[in-house]
Order: sequence, then C-alpha cells, then structure tokens
Amino acid sequence: KDRYVVLGNPIAHSKSPFLHTHFAQQTQQNLDYRPLLAPLDEFDTTVNGFIAQGGKGANVTLPFKLQAFALCTELTPRAKAAGAVNTLLFKTGHIIGDNTDGCGLVNDIVHNAGVNLTGQRILLLGAGGAARGALLPLLECQPAQIVIANRTVARAEELATQFQPFGNVLASSFEAVNGAFDLIINATSASINAEVPPVPASVFSPNCFAYDMMYGNQPTVFMQHAAAQGATTRDGWGMLVEQAAEAFYLWRGVKPATDALLKQHP
Ligand code: ATR
Repeated sequence: KDRYVVLGNPIAHSKSPFLHTHFAQQTQQNLDYRPLLAPLDEFDTTVNGFIAQGGKGANVTLPFKLQAFALCTELTPRAKAAGAVNTLLFKTGHIIGDNTDGCGLVNDIVHNAGVNLTGQRILLLGAGGAARGALLPLLECQPAQIVIANRTVARAEELATQFQPFGNVLASSFEAVNGAFDLIINATSASINAEVPPVPASVFSPNCFAYDMMYGNQPTVFMQHAAAQGATTRDGWGMLVEQAAEAFYLWRGVKPATDALLKQHP
C-alpha cells in the first residue's frame, strides 16, 4: 500500500485521515493515510524518516507549513506565492512542495457556494499565512479589486505590494475600509478569541457573501456578525474538504468527488 501521513503538532484531532480515507475508498485507490505527530524541533527528521520508510507524500499542518516550505527541493508556483507548503510529494531524491489551501478556498466559494468572483470586489481580512495563501488563487478569478485589511497595517501593505503585479490589490486598516464588498473573507485568527475584526458595518452589502476560513459546530462570531448585517455566510469546512481533494489529486492523478463530505459538516 502507498503510504501518506499528515504531519502536525498537535495532530490527534486532524480531519485529514478521515477525508483522505474517504477519497481512497471512493476512487478505489489502495493507500494508507495516518496522522503523524512531529516533535516541534524535529520536523525535518520526521519527514526524512518517513521518506526512508517508503512514504509517498504528506500533508502538513500547524505549526510546520513554513518549515515544509524550507525543506522542499521543488515548489509549485502557488506554493512559492503562498510562502508555505501544506502538501508534499516524494519522488526519488526530490521533495516537491505544493499549497492547496487557496485553491481549496476558491473551489469552495466558486463551485460549492456558486459565488462568481470575476469583476467582484473582495475584502480579505488578515495578512498572515492563511491570507497569503489565498491571494494568488483569488486573483486568478480576475476580481475587480482585492482590499487586504489587517490589524498590523504594515503586513497588509507588504502583501499588497507582493501581489500588486497580479491584479488590483490595496492595503488598509480595518477601520479605514471603504465601500461595500461582494465577498468578505475572514483569514484572521480573531474568531479563536471570539473577536471580530472592527471593519465598518457598511462593508457588508445586502448581496454580500461572508466567508470564515475557520469552522466549528456552530457559526463563528464573524459569521454571526456578518449575518446580522444581512450577509450570506459560510464557514471553512468546505475549504478543508477541497484542499484535501486537491492534494489527493496531486498524489493520485484522480479528482475525488467532494459532495458527500461537504454534507458531513461536524
Ligand atoms: P495564519 O497562518 O493562521 O494566518 P498568522 O500568520 O499568525 O496565522 O496570522 C494571523 C492573522 O490573524 C494576522 O493577520 C493577525 O493580525 P496581525 O498581523 O495584526 O497580528 C490576525 N489576528 C489575530 N488575532 C486577531 C484579533 N484578535 N483581531 C484581529 N486580527 C487578528
């Protein structure tokens, strides 16, 4: 059996083994996918050990996505743009790094939620790794504009400068965001502290779609806030399912169907 793992710390609660085992059964691929706890200071040794045992590929989750990026001998353009790697593919003598998070986000918004992004105005809240990974896949949809708003404005400015060559990208503070948006994506970790980025209520137009990259068994505080302003909301479960499907496709060359898993929201 071809072997795959998801590397993280902690890792016990990862949904990836469940998602990939479902995909393998559905597409009749003979593979074994497990969680693998990497000690915080031994990510590289853990990866190399798994390669030595014949491992074919791995997913990478917190806090190792930057270390995975540094370890790769080859990177896909979207991994380079994201500056982080969530999917590894092992070929003799090579570690190939990809990032399927942004693609998973866009597939969930465009295909699963049916939101067209072409010519639309997008507000991206946050300027950390999650926001960075989303930018290139979002810009490939040719929106009219993306405004990146962040608590630390300098980080938003840095990202806007990096992605400006690929489209109309601006930076802002939360408070200074101007006008209404078709799509608002929460890529901050503020929800963990039950906080909502303090953007003006006017950013939520009546037809606005508000997406939180986080998910839980109830709507996040950001979704509750957006819904109260009249927005349609969605959480990040579909993004998780779609990033996994894209990783599975990279490894196996088969695109699994995601509809059954999308319905199994925790
Ligand atoms: P990730 O890889 O998940 O994006 P990160 O790189 O630590 O993690 O980035 C976290 C993001 O959430 C940042 O944009 C951060 O804002 P700062 O750049 O100002 O730190 C944002 N964030 C975290 N907690 C927040 C809060 N309580 N309110 C608003 N933004 C918050």
